[in-house]
Formats: sequence, structure tokens, C-alpha cells
Amino acid sequence: MSATIFYYTGTGNSLWVARKLADALGNTDVVSMSGHWDEKKRIDPEAIGLVFPVYIWGVPAPVLRFVKNMKVMPESYIFAIAVNGGQVSNTLVQLKGIMAQNRLNLSAGFQIKMPSNYIPWGGPGPTEKQQRLFGLAQKKVMRIAESIKGKAPLPVEKGPLWQRIIFTAIYRMSFSQVPKMDRQFWSDNKCNSCEICSKVCPAENITFTEGRPQWNHKCEQCFACLQWCPQKAIQYGKRTPHYVRYHQPEILLTDVLKSR
Ligand SMILES: Cc1cc2nc3c(=O)[nH]c(=O)nc-3n(C[C@H](O)[C@H](O)[C@H](O)COP(=O)(O)O)c2cc1C
Ligand code: SF4
Ligand code: SF4
Repeated sequence: MSATIFYYTGTGNSLWVARKLADALGNTDVVSMSGHWDEKKRIDPEAIGLVFPVYIWGVPAPVLRFVKNMKVMPESYIFAIAVNGGQVSNTLVQLKGIMAQNRLNLSAGFQIKMPSNYIPWGGPGPTEKQQRLFGLAQKKVMRIAESIKGKAPLPVEKGPLWQRIIFTAIYRMSFSQVPKMDRQFWSDNKCNSCEICSKVCPAENITFTEGRPQWNHKCEQCFACLQWCPQKAIQYGKRTPHYVRYHQPEILLTDVLKSR
């Protein structure tokens, strides 16, 4: 079968999942969601995938924008994978609803747990734990590939009811605040003005004043700037100087730069 997988990523977990799935499926393109749906390029594969991280228990704004612009054949088999740190909550239910408004059917939705890149709550955990998660994720990717090859219509995966009630309320309350959450970013004296943070930002949110980054309140909260800074000079709030940085070890900075 032919498939196209569209991905959005901050620290590479979603790109890693997309690539592993493409390997398992064969004949599959892996394409960044950056920019907009290219209407001139006719997309008509047998299956279309969306792979993206969970943010604040829901779908990130750039993914919502991408989905709202999607134009595919109504009978297309569309699947999604919500890559998360352990709490997928209502993300895939939300996505299915948004797609239905656009007359698209989300045929199947899967969740995959990977190390968390949400550094304000701590680092990604010990390396052995990360390796265990990659192993489990790889196994789940193989199972997902079998479902996709059979074009199986499946109910979307979701978290427990209490999570979906409480966390969906938090998602809704915080959604409009996300662009301004960059107020907590700052750079310390390790910064050497390399400007990588600005290049890796999917939102063109970082400019420079006197050689130091400045955040301009159109943030998507992907944490790419902080996690990919070679000097570990970007901080968020007070605690991050003590926390370990993370990106998926098989994904390179150049991979993420190409996706912008
Ligand atoms: C702003 C933000 C919010 C997050 N919220 C959640 C969440 O609600 N539930 C969860 O399980 N993981 C959450 N995470 C963790 C990411 O979903 C997870 O680390 C994901 O694998 C990152 O994917 P990426 O490397 O492709 O960017 C959050 C991460 C960020 C940066
Ligand atoms: S990536 Fe880090 S070192 Fe480079 S300019 Fe940004 S903050 Fe400074
Ligand atoms: S400023 Fe940092 S966290 Fe915000 S969108 Fe850009 S790279 Fe992501």
C-alpha cells in the first residue's frame, strides 16, 4: 500500500515514530506539517497518517490548523498517532471531532508513550527507562502497521474518564494562553549567540537583541528552542537549570531544522 505520514515535532519523538512506522509500512512518505496544506500537490495515497505530540492534554494548535486545511478524498483512510508522556487523555477524541467538522473521518487513533520533553515538570527520566519506552513504542508501531495495512476502522484510544473531564477543561482554559507562555523563557550566560534556537523554532518566535534570544509571544510551546540549545543556555522558570535536556537520540538537529 502507499501512505503519506504528516508529522509535527519539537524534540523528535513524533518524527521517530513516523519514520519507524514508514519503515514498517513500506512505500510511505514522511512529510512535515510545517507551512500549510499544499493544495497544488494532490495527495491521494491509500492511507494518510498524522503523527504529533500531545500538548496540555490535547491537540497542539499547529496540528489543528493543518487538519482544518486538509483536503483529501472523502473515502481516504486517515489514522493518527498521539505521541505523549503518559497521558493521552482526550486528544484523539478531540481530533476526531475536529476532523468530522471538516467532513473527514479519522478511521483509527493510537497513542504511543515516549519520554516526556515537558521540562518544567522535570527531565526525561533515566536512560534505561527511555530505552525501555523506545522498545515498547517500536513494538506498538509494528502492531499499528498491521492495523493500517488492513485499513482497520478502530475506535480512537483515550485516557480514563476523570482525566478527560478535568484535563480537557484545563486544555480549553489554557489554549488561548499558549502563545504567551514563552514569558518564562530566558537565556543564561552560557549563550554564545549561535541562533540555533531561532532556526529550530517552528513559529518564528525568536529574534535577537544584543546577541541574546528574545521570545515574541507567538509560541507553540514545543520546547525545541530549550531542548536543542547546544549550550543548554535556555531556561524556563527557575528549576530547569537543574534538569537534563532531551531529544530523541536517533533524531538529529538537522532533521528538525529540515522540518521547519
Ligand atoms: C507544552 C507541552 C505539553 C505537554 N502535555 C502533555 C500531556 O498533556 N500529556 C502527555 O502525556 N504528555 C505531554 N507532553 C509531553 C509530550 O507530548 C511528549 O514528550 C512528546 O513525545 C513530545 O513529542 P516530540 O518530541 O515529537 O515533540 C507535553 C509536552 C509539552 C512540550
Ligand atoms: S541556541 Fe542557545 S546558545 Fe545558541 S543563541 Fe540560542 S540560547 Fe544562545
Ligand atoms: S519559542 Fe521555543 S517553545 Fe516556543 S515555539 Fe519556538 S521553539 Fe517552540
